[in-house]
Amino acid sequence: MKSKLILEAKNITKTYKVGDNEIHAVDDISLKIHEGEYIAIVGKSGSGKSTLMHLIGLLDTPTSGQVLLHGKDVSKLDEAKLARIRNKEIGFVFQSFNLLQRATAIENVELPLKYGDIPKKEWKTRAEDMLKLVDLIDRKNNKSNELSGGQKQRVAIARALVNEPSIILADEPTGNLDTKTGESIIRLFEKLNKQGKTIVLVTHDEDLAKHAKRQIVIKDGKLVQKKKSKS
Ligand SMILES: Nc1ncnc2c1ncn2[C@@H]1O[C@H](COP(=O)(O)OP(=O)(O)OP(=O)(O)O)[C@@H](O)[C@H]1O
Ligand SMILES: [Mg+2]
Repeated sequence: MKSKLILEAKNITKTYKVGDNEIHAVDDISLKIHEGEYIAIVGKSGSGKSTLMHLIGLLDTPTSGQVLLHGKDVSKLDEAKLARIRNKEIGFVFQSFNLLQRATAIENVELPLKYGDIPKKEWKTRAEDMLKLVDLIDRKNNKSNELSGGQKQRVAIARALVNEPSIILADEPTGNLDTKTGESIIRLFEKLNKQGKTIVLVTHDEDLAKHAKRQIVIKDGKLVQKKKSKS
C-alpha cells in the first residue's frame, strides 16, 4: 500500500529578475513527498536546491505553479496564514543552526511551541523528550553558545521536531560540521526516518545523499533525474 501523500509541487517555477536578466532558479519542477520518505535533493552550487526547499517549505511562494500540502493549495496564501501552517507542519534545519545564542538548549527547543496550540504546561516535557531523542538532555541548560557545532545542530533538530511536523526540511545541515560530526547528524536523520519521520535533506555531498532512500537531482533549476540509492 502506498503511504499518504503529504506534499505535492506541481510545475513550480521561481524566477528572479536581476536587471534585464531573468534567472530561472526553479524551472518547472513537479514532485511528490509521501509520509515516511527520506529524500535527498542534490545538485551543484547555484542549481536551485535552496530555492526549491524554500518553496516546498512555504518560506517563499512560486512565480507559477502550485504547492499542495495535504491536498490543499497553499501557494497563494498570505504570509500570516503561511507562517501558521509552517510552524505546525514543517520543521526546518539550516546549515548555520539559527539558534538563539543566549537562550539555553531547552529554551530554543520550546520556541516553536509558543506559536502553536500546545498547552503551556506540556512545553517543558515535550522539549525534554525531543532533547532525549537527539541525545542531548544532559546539556539542556547550556546556552547555545556553550555547545559544539554538532550539539547545536542536535538542538536545531530537536526544535524542528517539537511541533511534530509532517516534514523535516534540512538545507545543508552538515555544511558547518567536520566529516565525522556531519555523519553523526546524518545517522540521527536515519534514526528519525526509521521512527517514521518524513525527511528532505538538501546536500551537495553525494556520500551523504546516498543515505537517503530517494535522490532528486537538480541542474539549472530543473529536475534532471531520479536516482535510487540504498535499497
Ligand atoms: N533573491 C535572489 N535574487 C536573485 N537571484 C537569486 C536569489 N536567490 C537565489 N538566486 C539565484 O538562483 C539560483 C539558485 O540559487 P539557490 O540558492 O537555490 O542554489 P543552491 O543550489 O541552493 O546553491 P548552494 O549549493 O550554493 O547553496 C542561483 O543562480 C542564485 O544566484
Ligand atoms: Mg543552497
